[in-house]
Amino acid sequence: MIKKRILQGVISCLVAAGGIAACSEKVAQDKNDNPVRVGADWPTLHGGLVQDADMEAKIDRLLEKMTLEEKVGQLIQAELRAVTPQDVRDYHLGSVLNGGGSFPNNNKYATVDDWVALADAFYHASMDTSDGGVPIPIIWGTDAVHGHNNVIGATLFPHNIALGATRNPDLIRKVGAATAAEVAATGIDWSFAPTLAVVQDDRWGRTYESYSENPEVVASYAGPMVEGLQGKVRTDEFFAGGHVIATAKHFIADGGTTGGIDRGDAQFGEEELLKTHAPGYFTAIEAGVQTVMASFSSWQGEKMHGHKYLLTDVLKNHLGFDGFVVGDWNGHAFVEGCSTVSCPQAINAGLDMFMAPDPNWKTLYANTLAQAKDGTIPASRLNDAVRRILRVKMRAGLFEKGAPSERALAGDESVIGSPEHRAIARQAVRESLVLLKNRDGLLPLARDQRVLVAGDGADNIGKQAGGWSISWQGTGNQNSDFPGATSIYAGIAEAVESVGGEAILSVDGSFTQKPDVAIVVFGEDPYAEMQGDIANLDYRGDADLALLKKLRSQNIPVVSLFITGRPLWVNPEINASDAFVVIWHPGSEGAGVADVIFRRADGEVNYDFAGRLPFTWPQTANPENPKVQYAFDFGLNYSTQDVAGLLPEESGLSEPSGEEELQLFAGRALAPWKLEALDSSNRSSTITDSVTELNGLRVQMVDRHVQGDSRRLQWQGKGPATVGLFANQRTDLSGYLKASAALQFDVKVNREPSEEVLVGMSCGTDCRAELPVTGLLQVTEPGEWKTISIPLQCLAEKGTRMDMVLSPFYMTTAGEMDVSVNSVRVSANVESDMHCG
Ligand code: BGC
Ligand code: BGC
Repeated sequence: MIKKRILQGVISCLVAAGGIAACSEKVAQDKNDNPVRVGADWPTLHGGLVQDADMEAKIDRLLEKMTLEEKVGQLIQAELRAVTPQDVRDYHLGSVLNGGGSFPNNNKYATVDDWVALADAFYHASMDTSDGGVPIPIIWGTDAVHGHNNVIGATLFPHNIALGATRNPDLIRKVGAATAAEVAATGIDWSFAPTLAVVQDDRWGRTYESYSENPEVVASYAGPMVEGLQGKVRTDEFFAGGHVIATAKHFIADGGTTGGIDRGDAQFGEEELLKTHAPGYFTAIEAGVQTVMASFSSWQGEKMHGHKYLLTDVLKNHLGFDGFVVGDWNGHAFVEGCSTVSCPQAINAGLDMFMAPDPNWKTLYANTLAQAKDGTIPASRLNDAVRRILRVKMRAGLFEKGAPSERALAGDESVIGSPEHRAIARQAVRESLVLLKNRDGLLPLARDQRVLVAGDGADNIGKQAGGWSISWQGTGNQNSDFPGATSIYAGIAEAVESVGGEAILSVDGSFTQKPDVAIVVFGEDPYAEMQGDIANLDYRGDADLALLKKLRSQNIPVVSLFITGRPLWVNPEINASDAFVVIWHPGSEGAGVADVIFRRADGEVNYDFAGRLPFTWPQTANPENPKVQYAFDFGLNYSTQDVAGLLPEESGLSEPSGEEELQLFAGRALAPWKLEALDSSNRSSTITDSVTELNGLRVQMVDRHVQGDSRRLQWQGKGPATVGLFANQRTDLSGYLKASAALQFDVKVNREPSEEVLVGMSCGTDCRAELPVTGLLQVTEPGEWKTISIPLQCLAEKGTRMDMVLSPFYMTTAGEMDVSVNSVRVSANVESDMHCG
């Protein structure tokens, strides 16, 4: 309902005012009647939580007693690998987290008791008043994003994209409640879920963490998921036994970045923000969500971690969110002028708690304390942040519940991966499967057959679980790391063998006795944020396609089960299959697949397909020129007839070129690149002026052949500073790899470097190569220009994914140096004197 009101609001605003401009800069009022700048028609929400006067008075009393040191401690969340209970005691820390793949004692196989024991140790440290301090219970946050996925033996629910396909909000509530119970069993208070991203570009590696590209689906889930995790507001179950604090993340428009670039920039107007990316937050807030995580991404070039308008004016003041805003993994460090260890800007913009995973959180603490003392962070803001944190802790009952081990479900191993929870997960698997093709009604299959089960996903629980499964990226796991889980193959074998059929596991599809039918399970290997971004939507499963074709050529009917975290271009694979089912990342309960694709023993349909595409499925691999193969909402079932013939097999991608010289900078940065600098105080600027003075860096236009064709770059030794070419979209340079190409630039050394200098090429956070060029930057003859060539191959070997380059050239040093640079290019067939080392 909210949804409709907003949409109508926006549309009538646009229509009535005859344009966007007239609608912006409208003045609205927050619930205390203070005016706020509202650039779009943000709704007034109802139904969330009402503040309790007694609770607020209690918080007042605590705030009066707390020292500045204790208050600042509440603002810091340190990570398991970098914090001890003694630190919690000494610094009065408000929170700890365990990141993806981070466990008590660094032990992947930590037991439930280990988790609870560590939770107790942190708790007791936070309540220790031997130094005369105020006892404030700590909260521990974890990424229980598809079940309690860091814990061995936990129920792993299908990833959010699969849940989106079920279109079943009641099921989502149950998934939330079951997840909360497993989190509570380990003594943890808080989950960093749900993700409310409304992903618009499926190249993003977090697409599977999104319920849907459609805001209505996301909004219909956000509320129930929050209720499942926290319990329903204004009922006895709210934060009662087995419920934990939820997080709406990543605020806002994490799924709207240009090109689907992780941590990128969402470049559109406020109406679009409101219409597409906000509705999930509305229902989450109405369901009483207690925390919101700021997004790594930016909106219109401004980092969300420092976005006062959206964090404070919109989220807190206008939408009335009165819980607290937590940062994301050092996300504050990317705000202009900030670093991992200092960012009053974020707190002043409305961030309430820093997620500070590095060991240097102690420096962040010290700097924040100094900023609170000298008024850089006003007392009112500090008190407001602490008040919000205390309010959430009180609402969650942490002041009364005692030590984690004393709380409901704590330490109860039987809750982890319980049969009830697994049944919910299996139901979710069944309802999430999307049938794209079913030639001649091949499905459902009879059980009483010889079934060949092939493909590298057939008996591979890590692959079916996807990212955020025991490890952060979901990699490095064995089936034995998922005790109690069922692979797709195991589920099929159980169904078939129950009536005397035969299931033969053969990853490569070879067999001795010809099967009646082949089921091939293949698709994407696990990945998570950063590493999961891709250049285009091509599935690239040549070996899988060959296997499908081979089986078909032997007159064996082929059922494809496609494991994926996003829609990918698979028309050739679909054409080579008789039936094609998208099974997403189903998680630990692989048997849910057999439940649907096999008939009952008596021949009746067991479970029909219920899943519908939560994302549009593409007809080509080229997202720049999108064509639809299967529309959003598509999904066959056993009563629909599949009438589709062969699908087009043109990928829409052109061969990457690699022959001609590619100019990147010729007098000026050539599109799509921009000349940008990141100075010694982490301030980034696009260089357009003839002289730009930055902190520790000076960039000046100078002449070589023609006026202003070069740039003089002077580093002043004030700490790391970078100049280079950057774009907001990816460029495919992979064609140049074949052509023994090199990144080249001409340089004149005016003053030799005092410290190491690196030249880098980047394809995103954690996706880059940097090579030292210090030795090449020596003055041989004063005033001489020389060319430096860096083989692309070296950069590729060191980590640059050449098909998705975001920055083809940058130079960085912390020391002093003065060089002039001209003509940056990628040239084919270059003899290079540089060796990859
Ligand atoms: C952590 C993750 C985190 C990531 C971000 C990993 O080491 O375990 O939880 O999201 O780093 O950089
Ligand atoms: C991710 C968050 C996650 C956090 C803690 C970040 O890198 O973006 O989604 O909650 O790490 O692991």
